[in-house]
Amino acid sequence: MPTIPDRNLALELVRVTEAAALGAGRWVGRGDKIAADQAAVDGMRAVLDTVAMSGVVVIGEGEKDEAPMLYNGEEVGNGQGPEVDVAVDPLEGTRLTATGQPNAIAVIAVAERGTMFFPGAAVYMDKIAAGAEVAGAIDLDASPQDNVRAAAGAKGVKPSEMSVVVLDRDRNQELIAGLRDVGTRVVLITDGDVAPAIAAANPRRPVDLMMGIGGTPEGVIAAAAVKALGGAVQGRLWPRSDDEREAIVGAGLDPDVKLTTDDLVGGDNLFVAATGVTDGALLSGVRYTRDGAETDSIVIRSRSGTVRRVQAWHELDKLARFSGREYR
Ligand code: FBP
Repeated sequence: MPTIPDRNLALELVRVTEAAALGAGRWVGRGDKIAADQAAVDGMRAVLDTVAMSGVVVIGEGEKDEAPMLYNGEEVGNGQGPEVDVAVDPLEGTRLTATGQPNAIAVIAVAERGTMFFPGAAVYMDKIAAGAEVAGAIDLDASPQDNVRAAAGAKGVKPSEMSVVVLDRDRNQELIAGLRDVGTRVVLITDGDVAPAIAAANPRRPVDLMMGIGGTPEGVIAAAAVKALGGAVQGRLWPRSDDEREAIVGAGLDPDVKLTTDDLVGGDNLFVAATGVTDGALLSGVRYTRDGAETDSIVIRSRSGTVRRVQAWHELDKLARFSGREYR
């Protein structure tokens, strides 16, 4: 039954990520990742409660005691809209921002209440992310070589024409060797695997796959965006020690199970917004001029499949006047 188009929450959420990016953007290249993160949190916080939703933070800045704002379990939104789970990363790529490197973004994902995977003690996850074209061809249990061959086949290109983004970490060296063995282009990143994962699901961006062991919360956020774009993310929790494995099992999670996109984000009414802080594979970073700032965002809604690119111009003095906050 067709229904009348309803509200697209993502169009409200983009104001939230813009505010976070405008906060963090001032700290690009200034060597202080804590200040950058705090500025992003403050910016996000200032706008989040205007959004018409009754949200609970499932993925936030951490436990309440350590994170005074946007902590896991915190209620956000104006309390008047749909009941939703909220995953936020006000600044994905704190080090990238501090050192002026590409791919730092501000991101938020929203799904129906109770449908987002709660990572708990699981810090790391082995992940593979791909777009709609190759979603059915990837398998976390297959070798890197087989994954690239299958994905290249589904795309109708050669493995050597594929670009795979991997976090440059010791734990990913075997994967990197396997990818090089099949002749694919391996793009190593120092941080920030969410933007490349979303880019992999976007046929208009220069990334084909994102693979390797990275953050679990980042995997869930990426899964929301990739799913909304019709792609797939598979993951497996990657405990660093026996103690961590025990804690994960104790929390009722299975570190051996392969998590599908639906396990990571079960809902099918997803809203995602992300704004660039520094230039990257997905978005341009915040640009400043004498009077204002320009932001570049992506706004995704799963139900309609609409993907918007939002270029916004912000008059910083006006914003400061009516919000009472400092933007310069
Ligand atoms: P920040 O928390 O500094 O923003 O870093 C994010 C990130 O680079 C993620 O993109 C990635 O999934 C994770 O950290 C990797 O963790 P680690 O740096 O501990 O290997």
